[in-house]
Amino acid sequence: MASLPQFERWGSLAGKRVLVRVDFNTPVAEVNGRLEVTDDFRIRATLPLFEQLLDAGATVVACTHFGRPEGRVVEKYSVAPVRRRLEELCPAVELLENLRFHPGEEANDPAFGASLVEGFDYYINEAFSASHRAHASIMIPPTLIPSAAGPNLQREVATLSSILESPARPFVAIVGGAKVKDKLGIVKVLAQKADQVIVGGGMAYTFEATQGRHIGSSLFDPSYLEVCAELMEGGKIVIPSDARGLRDDAPFGSGGPDEVLEWGQDIPDGFQGLDIGPASVASFVSIIMGAGTILWNGPMGVFEDPRLSAGTEAVARAVAASDAVSIIGGGDSVSAIQGFGLEDAVSFVSTGGGASLEFVELGDLPGLAALRESPWNRS
Ligand code: 3PG
Repeated sequence: MASLPQFERWGSLAGKRVLVRVDFNTPVAEVNGRLEVTDDFRIRATLPLFEQLLDAGATVVACTHFGRPEGRVVEKYSVAPVRRRLEELCPAVELLENLRFHPGEEANDPAFGASLVEGFDYYINEAFSASHRAHASIMIPPTLIPSAAGPNLQREVATLSSILESPARPFVAIVGGAKVKDKLGIVKVLAQKADQVIVGGGMAYTFEATQGRHIGSSLFDPSYLEVCAELMEGGKIVIPSDARGLRDDAPFGSGGPDEVLEWGQDIPDGFQGLDIGPASVASFVSIIMGAGTILWNGPMGVFEDPRLSAGTEAVARAVAASDAVSIIGGGDSVSAIQGFGLEDAVSFVSTGGGASLEFVELGDLPGLAALRESPWNRS
């Protein structure tokens, strides 16, 4: 891939106005009657860039989307809680209101994009995790003013590219999450590039069903049965050999009184698998400990429920303990690794959920192409 433009080549930034597209689409929760940021990882990750620009004498204005207000002003999607957190961490940076309050943002409207850069000398895209969206704030500025890739965005691209192009082997991918539909593309690509692809989480039951196994009321998508069966035939997919779970009418998600049961290959009717079992943990951990490169995207079960977190925790601990180059992507696996306090023990935590998946799958993102094709990058 041609290189992305760097802002270091702009020369002095003293007195210049720089618009930085960030992704501060962070989780929030109500605390004492108002929304507060509960995970400021994406905000803290941007601080080194802000500080570098401010130290160089620039005026820095940041812009982000926040939730999905669909082109309307919706109070709960105001960036106010994010702005409060940013003010605590870096008061010199102004944050514009939610870009998605304007219909022009998602419509990739050139006029809205032009209004964003009015009065700015430079634009930096530091939002890798939003660069799979061909939206105005991502696509239009590079056509109008000198534009560059932020350092985190560059690091994300370089890290993901290097493991896809020349991974230390064995390259073990771990893919989890609820829906086969969301992860099928990445599983297909990884089945080509990796040596083994461990599949866990709710999506694994459709793969298990291809082997004639009984999955009770676990998540199942019959429309993907055939393609999952073909992937299994490739010989690289490793699926759980046992499961833990609950009666199918038992509530789950945040704990509860119901007893967690354990099954081998088959789950009886009336029950659903919600985590991998101990035999799967043992075999996954042994594969992970032998890896040279690990790419992990998606949990092994409903880990936010403490009764059902054992599989995800065991995988997280094995990834953290291994000497492999380890890359964690996807919001849930990042929260899991952070929740277990292990983020410093892995090589790279990606800020991009959907964007990392799309980059691994397609090898490029619209926002990266926009930067590469910027007229200022060509000159
Ligand atoms: C994310 O949180 O993955 C990004 O901010 C993208 O959000 P979106 O899926 O609403 O575009």
